[in-house]
Amino acid sequence: MTLAGAPGTITHNHKAGSPVEGPPFAYLTRQFRWSNQQAMASGVTMSVQECEAMSISIKWEDIYVTGIRDIDEQHRHFVDLINRMSACTDADIRSEAGRKLVVEILNYAGMHFAMEEGLMVTHRYPDRDAHAREHRTLEATLANKAVALASGAEPRSSAVMFLWNWLVAHTNLEDKSLSKHLFKHGVK
Ligand SMILES: [Fe+2]
Ligand SMILES: [Fe+2]
Repeated sequence: MTLAGAPGTITHNHKAGSPVEGPPFAYLTRQFRWSNQQAMASGVTMSVQECEAMSISIKWEDIYVTGIRDIDEQHRHFVDLINRMSACTDADIRSEAGRKLVVEILNYAGMHFAMEEGLMVTHRYPDRDAHAREHRTLEATLANKAVALASGAEPRSSAVMFLWNWLVAHTNLEDKSLSKHLFKHGVK
């Protein structure tokens, strides 16, 4: 996936580990939040059709780097988990191994959110309540999807699309805003 066609604010090359600062990161603000249509057109998010193509493999891009090492490492692992789900068939996902993978994703999300929320408390992040609410919403949605996947009510492609689009949107807004605050407080 590339960022071709994305709004002009995302034309820079963000170096891994550098602080999230300055005009190139203006897209982090809510005023620059893309509409779903813009995001789809940019190629950053996925359509159901793309997800239904079994060959799809999500690639980590520097654009997703927040500059905070632990957050970035865990996001990368989350991408790996989504790719593992993407490589499954619908039958795979209903198998014992598939159910374990879904539980692993749920548990990993919970662990990652707890880590971020711990940093928010330690470093007195002013938007922590709103950010944590987004985490709770995702956890509840994931729990429902786990049941729907296991029963066959939801296809794997739909869950992959949801997870990837959520990760991109949440990373580029909430997590990068948090990372900017953490960087100012000396966290790397
Ligand atoms: Fe987060
Ligand atoms: Fe995160």
